Amino acid sequence: MGVTVQEQTGLFHLQSSDMSYLIQIVDGYPVHVYWGGKLKQREKMSDLLIHTPAGAGLDRLPQEYPQYGSGDFRNPAYQAELEDGTRITELKYDGYRILKGKPHLIGLPAVYTEDESEADSLELILKDTYSGLKVVLLYTIFADRNVIVRSTQLSNEGDKKLRLRRALSASVDLTGKGDMEIMYLSGAWAREGTIRRRPLVQGETRIDSKRGMSSHQFNPFAALVSKETTEDHGEAFGFSLVYSGSFEAGAEVDSFGSTRFSIGVNSFDFAWQLNPGDSFQTPEAVMVYSGHGLGEMSRTYHRLYRTRLCRGKYWDEERPILVNNWEATYFNFDADKLVSIAEEGAKLGIELFVLDDGWFGKRDSDNSSLGDWYEDRRKLPGGLADVAERVNRLGLKFGLWFEPEMISPDSELYRKHPDWCLHVPGRRRTEARWQLVLDYTRQEVRDYIYDSLSAIFTSVPVSYVKWDMNRCLTEIGSAALQPEHQAETAHRYVLGLYELLERITADFPHILFESCSSGGGRFDPGMLYYMPQTWTSDNTDAVERLKIQYGTSLVYPVSAIGAHVSAVPNHQVGRITPLEFRGDVAMSGNFGYELDLTNFTDEEKETVKRQVATYKQIRGLVQQGDLYRLKSPFEGNESAWMFVSEDKEEALVYAFQVMAVPNAPLRTVRLGGLDPELEYEVESSISGEKSIYGGDRLMQLGLPLKYEQKDYQSMWFRLKAVKPLTRFNIKSYARLRNHRRS
Ligand code: DGJ
Repeated sequence: MGVTVQEQTGLFHLQSSDMSYLIQIVDGYPVHVYWGGKLKQREKMSDLLIHTPAGAGLDRLPQEYPQYGSGDFRNPAYQAELEDGTRITELKYDGYRILKGKPHLIGLPAVYTEDESEADSLELILKDTYSGLKVVLLYTIFADRNVIVRSTQLSNEGDKKLRLRRALSASVDLTGKGDMEIMYLSGAWAREGTIRRRPLVQGETRIDSKRGMSSHQFNPFAALVSKETTEDHGEAFGFSLVYSGSFEAGAEVDSFGSTRFSIGVNSFDFAWQLNPGDSFQTPEAVMVYSGHGLGEMSRTYHRLYRTRLCRGKYWDEERPILVNNWEATYFNFDADKLVSIAEEGAKLGIELFVLDDGWFGKRDSDNSSLGDWYEDRRKLPGGLADVAERVNRLGLKFGLWFEPEMISPDSELYRKHPDWCLHVPGRRRTEARWQLVLDYTRQEVRDYIYDSLSAIFTSVPVSYVKWDMNRCLTEIGSAALQPEHQAETAHRYVLGLYELLERITADFPHILFESCSSGGGRFDPGMLYYMPQTWTSDNTDAVERLKIQYGTSLVYPVSAIGAHVSAVPNHQVGRITPLEFRGDVAMSGNFGYELDLTNFTDEEKETVKRQVATYKQIRGLVQQGDLYRLKSPFEGNESAWMFVSEDKEEALVYAFQVMAVPNAPLRTVRLGGLDPELEYEVESSISGEKSIYGGDRLMQLGLPLKYEQKDYQSMWFRLKAVKPLTRFNIKSYARLRNHRRS
């Protein structure tokens, strides 16, 4: 396993426990030979290349980092412009290096190894001798994961300037796979995570963001799947970009029935100046192969992102149950109101109180004060420290909302530094939510934000931060950049953001950070590197959340998926759903409340108390277990999923029915991920009964779902493996079994 090289044939075999990826150097070009289920390493592997050799034209050659201009008319992976205005370069193989583990990507978030033995990396070195352009393709293969991580470094080793007009992270030509389907996540504000699936045909299917953030509209992820691929069967090839800015991803089926998939920073409105000696590092693309359906693809992403992308103190810790005051009060609160919510939360077992927007400057609505990060003494006479200490005294931790990338035109900061926002001289400054975006390409702007936040973190006991970002980038230009660097602004913005996040999260490691961008507008792996959880959507309606959370789980681990119970009628859609239903949906994620607990009746408080106590018992399994999706809310009235512990000894199933069904047929749900050899004790939330079933039966026949005659129903089943029979427990097991049968 790892990387094997056959020097004579120029063949590179990257192999993990169940996957192979093969590249061969043909006429100096790195050619894509194979990606899929594992192939044995054999003496003779060069016969795998069934594709037309380069001599027959580049347009038919399956490549790893294709150029444009010399006969390949498909989308190239890069394009460089020379000082003389020409755009032709021809990269040829110039050597390779094999490295243990995975090298760091300086200044960019990236998947990591904890031990060098976990992965091997291959660098393929390509050069265009005429211009001096050097390209290093970096591949990392994990021993025990079906994952290839790719990124690219482009350097100018010549003596004249080069201008990159396109520099994608990865491109792969899948020969004969022109009849696949593409899946991706689309949406809008409050409608994130919609799963789309459609067949590829000759031509292009492309998703992108030009918004300066990864966006609500398209997540930086796509998968190519076979027509017959389902949750449990068939091939899936996932591509996920570890990046938080404008991106592009696309599949292009050529006239010979092959598919080229490429992904990276959006080439639209992008250019990067490479002076002699300069380099450009692309973000990385995480490519996952599954031979067993979408479920396995997702679980591979989940495990990798949870354990080798998220960092810091909290990545593997159980996350606190929070109550957030946003939907409870919006901007209308004072210290006593906040403490009263926290007080109620304390009685119900909640662990963290989060003070959302409105505590700083003179922010009585969303039209002022962003950038003025000091407390509003009108609302908080004793300051933030006073509120935080009062909350702490109740036994809750204190969390705080910021929107650090923004500036309100109506703010002290803007009056002092009107050029600190992204803007283009002579053009209007487009406001969204009455705010502009700070120019994070500038060190002094980032330093100001660092100083403002760290002053609070060192004087107030802040345990949690919600890092919000509520608008896209417009008039993307920087007062600090020379004309030849203006087209770099959007990417430099993201690099500036990453630099600041690295500093802040490293200097305040005790703080749990949650990212947010009007909900899931920047739910991407780049942000997860710094912040292990994300606010999934501003839409807190439980019915809508079934889809949003299900869709998001295609790529992202449940530990990252923030999910709160909110008040009814729901503030986004006006729907009234039972508290139990809302609780079960939110408990399927990273759990909390977002409402005024002081308004609850005693009965509702009892329900909350029960939910909080239940979540404390199950959160290890929900947040760190393996997710199996069982019924898709995109396909009907029912949804179901389950969480299974790594040792398969414990599991938790949730099932939901949105609308009551008259004269309904018997419904069942077939479980996944259990050990067919084990017997499980199954406890049902509806009947409270415990029964014993074999893992094989639960996965083949399934569990019956007995819904009552009402809308918005949820139920759960807790499964515990019954220990193998020993002399000591054989009697009690037999007794239990007989009892259940009688
Ligand atoms: C958008 C977020 O998604 C909400 O949860 C809330 O924090 C508001 N911003 C506050 O302005």
